[in-house]
Amino acid sequence: MKEKIENLRSEIELAMEKTATGTELYQLKLKFQAELKTIMGGMKDLPKEEKPAFGKIVNEFKQAMEEKFELRAIVVREKEMQAKYEKERIDISMPGKNRKNGALHPITLVKNELIDIFAGMGFKVFEGPEIETDYYNFTALNTPKDHPARDMQDTFYLAENLLLRTQTSAGQIRVMEKQSPPIKILSPGRVFRSDDDATHSPMFHQMEGLVVDKGITLCDLQGMLAEFARKMFSETTKVRLRPSYFPFTEPSVEVDLSCSECGGKGCRLCKGTGWIEVLGAGMVNRHVLENCGVNPDEYTGFAFGMGVERIAMLKYGINNIKTLFENDIRFISQFE
Ligand code: DAH
Repeated sequence: MKEKIENLRSEIELAMEKTATGTELYQLKLKFQAELKTIMGGMKDLPKEEKPAFGKIVNEFKQAMEEKFELRAIVVREKEMQAKYEKERIDISMPGKNRKNGALHPITLVKNELIDIFAGMGFKVFEGPEIETDYYNFTALNTPKDHPARDMQDTFYLAENLLLRTQTSAGQIRVMEKQSPPIKILSPGRVFRSDDDATHSPMFHQMEGLVVDKGITLCDLQGMLAEFARKMFSETTKVRLRPSYFPFTEPSVEVDLSCSECGGKGCRLCKGTGWIEVLGAGMVNRHVLENCGVNPDEYTGFAFGMGVERIAMLKYGINNIKTLFENDIRFISQFE
C-alpha cells in the first residue's frame, strides 16, 4: 500500500511539473482523485489494527498533494497570463494610422453657397427629374421638334420622347404647371450633353432660377444679379447684360461679371476683355407662360440658368473642368 502511494506521488508530481494550463492541471487532479479512491478502496482488505495508521498516512498524503495542486495552480495561472500578454502585445511606440476627415466636394460647396445666396433672397428649392420627356426639356420651353435652337444642345435620347435633361430649365415648366404665381424657385441639378473638352463635360450641374409675378421687369433681374455677384465673388463685382437668344426668354441676355482675377483691367482669364460670361437669362417668353396656363397679360417673369462648374472654376481659378470629376485626392483636399 505504501509503495502504491509513493508511486502515485512521484507520478503525479512529475506530471504536475509539465502542466502548462489550468485545464491540464484540472485533468491531472481528476486522475489523482480517481487513483486515490482506488487506493482507499483497498483499505477494506487490511487487518483491522493497521487501518487507523494507514488512514492517517492516506489523509496526510491527500492533504499534501492538494497543497501542491494549489501552488501549481498559481504558477500555471501566471504562465497563462504571460502567454496571453505575449500574444496581445502591441507596440505603443508605433505611429498611429492617419485617418483623413472627409470633406465636401468643391461642386457641392459652390452649389450650397449658391442655394444660400438665393434662399436669402426668398427662393425655394425645387428639384426636377434627370430623365425628362421631350415636352418638358424642349417643346414646352418654346423649342418644338424642328426648331433650330435644338442644335444648341447635343442631346442624349433614351427613346423618341425620353431624354437625359440637357438643362434644368425643364424644372420651370414643372413648377409653373403645379403652382400659380407668385413663383420664386431655384432648381439645382445634373444635366447631360454630348459635349466633351477642357471646359465641357457630358455631365455637369446647373442652377436654374425662375421668378413670376405681377409687374416683374428686366430691372428686377438686373438687381438680383448684382446682389448675387457681390455675394458670390466680391463687393466690387459688376454685372453686364448683353443681348442674346434663348427660345424660352424674350428678350434674352447673356450675363457677364467683371473679371474676378484682374478686377476688369483685362488679363488672361478674361482674355483681355475685363468681363467673364457666367450665365444666360431673360424675361420668360409669353409662349412659355401660356404653355403652363399662366396668363402673360397678367404676369411676367424672369429666368436664369448658370453652370455650377463654371462658377466653381471662376471662383477657385480651375482651368480644366475634368479636375472636378477625376476626384484626385491631392486636388479635392485643397477645398477642405
Ligand atoms: N438653359 C440654358 C442653357 O442651358 C441657360 C438659360 C438661359 C436658362 C436663359 C434660363 C434662361 O433660365 O432664361 O444654356
